[in-house]
Amino acid sequence: MKRIVESHQDYFHDIENANNYLNDAKNASKAKFNNFLSSIKKMDIKGKYLEIGSGPGIITQVVATQHPHAKIIANDISPEMINLAQLDLDENLKTRIKYKVGDACDINSLKDLGKFDLIYSTFTLHHWDNAELAIKNLYSMLNDNGLLYIHDLKRVIWLYYIKSQSGFFNSIRAAYRPDEIKTMLNRIGIKNFKIRTIFPFFMQSILIRK
Ligand SMILES: C[S@@+](CC[C@H](N)C(=O)[O-])C[C@H]1O[C@@H](n2cnc3c(N)ncnc32)[C@H](O)[C@@H]1O
Repeated sequence: MKRIVESHQDYFHDIENANNYLNDAKNASKAKFNNFLSSIKKMDIKGKYLEIGSGPGIITQVVATQHPHAKIIANDISPEMINLAQLDLDENLKTRIKYKVGDACDINSLKDLGKFDLIYSTFTLHHWDNAELAIKNLYSMLNDNGLLYIHDLKRVIWLYYIKSQSGFFNSIRAAYRPDEIKTMLNRIGIKNFKIRTIFPFFMQSILIRK
């Protein structure tokens, strides 16, 4: 069950695609994010938050609203996405959310942001050019006892053989299996982690504690 990644690096750098993603994200099923949002709400982590691959910032605004004391830096590699996110940002959240362009795989583009108590990312892991390097970079940006929370799709055999080439199924083909994630974390030397499969079983959360 090989991982298949189509070249989608340019996809989010196109203003029309970025706009389409914003509209889709606004109408997306709550099931996509519910587990992640309820889980971080329960944790109620105090301090500074960093979101990686925030896209148009839909989740950023939900997280900021459900954590009224959190200050969030939201990053994306695509300047077009960051621009859209800034335009769509609710006036009341402007003092607590700052959007910045940067690449999770390039520590030089992130290092001025400082250290964080919670770093999270939704549906981006399978887009990172070098996931192992990105995780290593993000881990280095955690404060002691900080949490890196990555929520993404999971490559599962029963969806892999579906013929459809829709974006959703191709994203599943590009996603990692838990054993591949464990191998990356072992190579980095990260020992304190949990990988949870999320209903309906083609999603997973990776929780890494420093
Ligand atoms: C599928 S969208 C997810 C957006 C948002 N997190 C959500 O859940 O709706 C993936 C986002 O990851 C961004 N991205 C891809 N590679 C990245 C990288 N190396 N560093 C930062 N962002 C990246 C893309 O530009 C895109 O906005």
